[in-house]
Amino acid sequence: HGPCKINELGHLEIGGCDAVELAKEFGTPLYVMDEECIRENCRLYKENLNSLYKNSDVIYAGKAFLTVEMCKLIEEEGLSLDVVSGGELYMALQADFPAKRIYFHGNNKSYDELEMAVRHGVGHIIVDNFYELELLRDITSKLSGRKVKILLRLTPGIEAHTHDYIKTGQIDSKFGFGLENGHAFMAIENALSIKNVKLMGFHCHIGSQIFEKEPFREAADIMVHFAKMVEEKYGFKTQEIDFGGGFGVRYTEEDKPLEVRDYLETLVESVIESCEKYNLSAPKILIEPGRAIVGEAGVTLYTIGAIKNIPGIRKYVSVDGGMSDNIRPALYNAKYSAAIANKAKWPAEETVSIAGKCCESGDMLIWDIDLPKIAPGDILAVFTTGAYHYSMASNYNMLPRPAVIFVRNKTARLVVRRQTYEDLLSYDISLPSAAKAFS
Ligand code: LLP
Repeated sequence: HGPCKINELGHLEIGGCDAVELAKEFGTPLYVMDEECIRENCRLYKENLNSLYKNSDVIYAGKAFLTVEMCKLIEEEGLSLDVVSGGELYMALQADFPAKRIYFHGNNKSYDELEMAVRHGVGHIIVDNFYELELLRDITSKLSGRKVKILLRLTPGIEAHTHDYIKTGQIDSKFGFGLENGHAFMAIENALSIKNVKLMGFHCHIGSQIFEKEPFREAADIMVHFAKMVEEKYGFKTQEIDFGGGFGVRYTEEDKPLEVRDYLETLVESVIESCEKYNLSAPKILIEPGRAIVGEAGVTLYTIGAIKNIPGIRKYVSVDGGMSDNIRPALYNAKYSAAIANKAKWPAEETVSIAGKCCESGDMLIWDIDLPKIAPGDILAVFTTGAYHYSMASNYNMLPRPAVIFVRNKTARLVVRRQTYEDLLSYDISLPSAAKAFS
């Protein structure tokens, strides 16, 4: 599955490392990211898009998985970076990611977050709402001389076939300016009136884990048509259109994502066709893949502990992690495939369900999977866990965890201090000497 092989010991191997040895050395639960696989995905997206359409850029959506090392890898591979909070932005800046290549997203950016972005010369801010435009008006006038490029995020009214929670393109959405209700035009007028804000174009993101071509075609047509209307109405020339992410990956046999080339060809050809149809000069095309860059590169290793057999009903096999590191099954009913890393060549013998360690029944990683005979101490490898796992484990989107106070007799005392951005980085080991040789 994905980047995994089976070695001569009959163990699962990832990135040339024996998974059983990795579990011994680093402990479990362990998120193993195959670096070469991530780099290949970066190149696949960058080279394909670039060969189809010169004036383009690939922006990695950091919300899928972000660490200091990941920022460095993305920078080395020449991709830009989409950050979605002050925490992610801070991490990128600390990792010396060039500010010019950062795209700042989010539906509720604060004054402080925006000020930090403007001060550090972040390349683009993707403006989501009217409040944000007002904050930017204020910030750019205070920091006079600081200019900032923006894209306006639009809701194009497209329903992609994916889980309700990860649909984002429909009109009834918390994200972006609506096209149909005139908000998009109002936002343009507003943006054009701010002296130090330079409107570059428009953004949309229609959803995530999409397997069809049609939503991308529709998005291209709607966005290009909109750009034409804007040109006619305001004489404004759209320089950039950002189509967001959403390219699907394979979790189980049932998932049938398109080839990278097919996704990109669909998008690029549709943009070109629509530009001809509406007579618009071709804009720069931006895309923001997250899952497709890191999803299949990740494998999680767990140690199997308690096994509870209810004869004739179900065998529960518990692991030492669960919804605390992978909330996707509980949140989206997401499906996974898995193997026993130390029995990778053994035939499947029983149907079991994999339970997490958290104190609730919904904490199940996999319902009904066929695996070899399992014993406590075996190492379970769950595949395609690179995207939206580590980043959604307690510090999703790198939002610092809140503080906790106790209140009594009209007094309040702090019992857990608020996490700082420094705290978020304090676990990162970014020295190359930390890499260990495994065979
Ligand atoms: N751009 C924007 C503006 C986004 O909101 C997202 C994802 C992306 C790009 C990247 O989308 P991707 O290429 O990864 O599909 N936690 C959910 C997925 C949430 C996606 C949020 N936005 C999950 O685990 O499935």
